Amino acid sequence: MTDQSGTAPSMSALSVSHIFKSYEGGPDILRDFSLNVAPGSFCVVLGASGSGKSTLLKCIAGLTPVNAGDIFLHGAPLARKRLQAVGMVHQDYGLSDRLTTAQNVMSGVAARLSWWRVALQIYPKAIQSKACALLDQVGLTEDHANRQAGQLSGGQKQRVGIARALMSDPGLILADEPVASLDPKSSTETMELLKRAAKERGAAVLCSLHQIDLAKSYADRIIGLNDGQIVFDGPPDALSRDAVQSIFNIASGASVVRREVA
Ligand SMILES: Nc1ncnc2c1ncn2[C@@H]1O[C@H](COP(=O)(O)OP(=O)(O)OP(=O)(O)O)[C@@H](O)[C@H]1O
Ligand SMILES: [Mg+2]
Repeated sequence: MTDQSGTAPSMSALSVSHIFKSYEGGPDILRDFSLNVAPGSFCVVLGASGSGKSTLLKCIAGLTPVNAGDIFLHGAPLARKRLQAVGMVHQDYGLSDRLTTAQNVMSGVAARLSWWRVALQIYPKAIQSKACALLDQVGLTEDHANRQAGQLSGGQKQRVGIARALMSDPGLILADEPVASLDPKSSTETMELLKRAAKERGAAVLCSLHQIDLAKSYADRIIGLNDGQIVFDGPPDALSRDAVQSIFNIASGASVVRREVA
């Protein structure tokens, strides 16, 4: 399958080159997997449960090691650039419920600060101001900022997750099924917010989803994943019924295809 990014690896926001990934001697989940993501593009990784979406994003985020292959961010090896260059949004929000909303957002730059600042939750003024500004941008108030994160609704929690991901001014935002736990209205609002925030900053997004309609609405580029392999790579308009069938192993003529694919 041809890479549709049209971007040389050295110019890409993200370049994944021939990676292999298995867990504890098990089968390869990703086998000789390569992908380039252009700066500023909104890429959706679309695939069924178990296709390897989270594994791919975790490898890129450095949350699990690859067995072989290379990952580059803006042309530099992942290990050196990750802390500055990647923001991550999680399906289950990944917030600390006992911390306030603002403290959760500020934790987005914890890796850059002295351990004691993080342990005592004493953040520099500039970081506090930035967290407040980001919370405002994602539509949360000062009242939300001072509440424990555990008291927020799912949609509000994911806004906090996005604000935290933006704290480090990332060139790449990874979002692993960011709306899987949300109702349709909150899902749309969250996808809008993610897209707008990334566009304003010129950041590339790699977002995993299993909802075809959301992928078609928000992606510049859809990467269809089936059993760790790219089976479709192209713009939303090119996502045909056949392509959906090959991504989701849907039998020809099944109703889900007729309903979700124009
Ligand atoms: N920590 C792990 N140890 C062993 N196997 C794992 C681990 N994490 C994932 N896998 C396996 O890797 C495969 C891909 O899983 P992954 O979570 O990446 O899929 P996914 O596309 O994100 O699925 P979902 O849509 O359900 O989140 C699955 O077969 C899964 O069982
Ligand atoms: Mg997953």
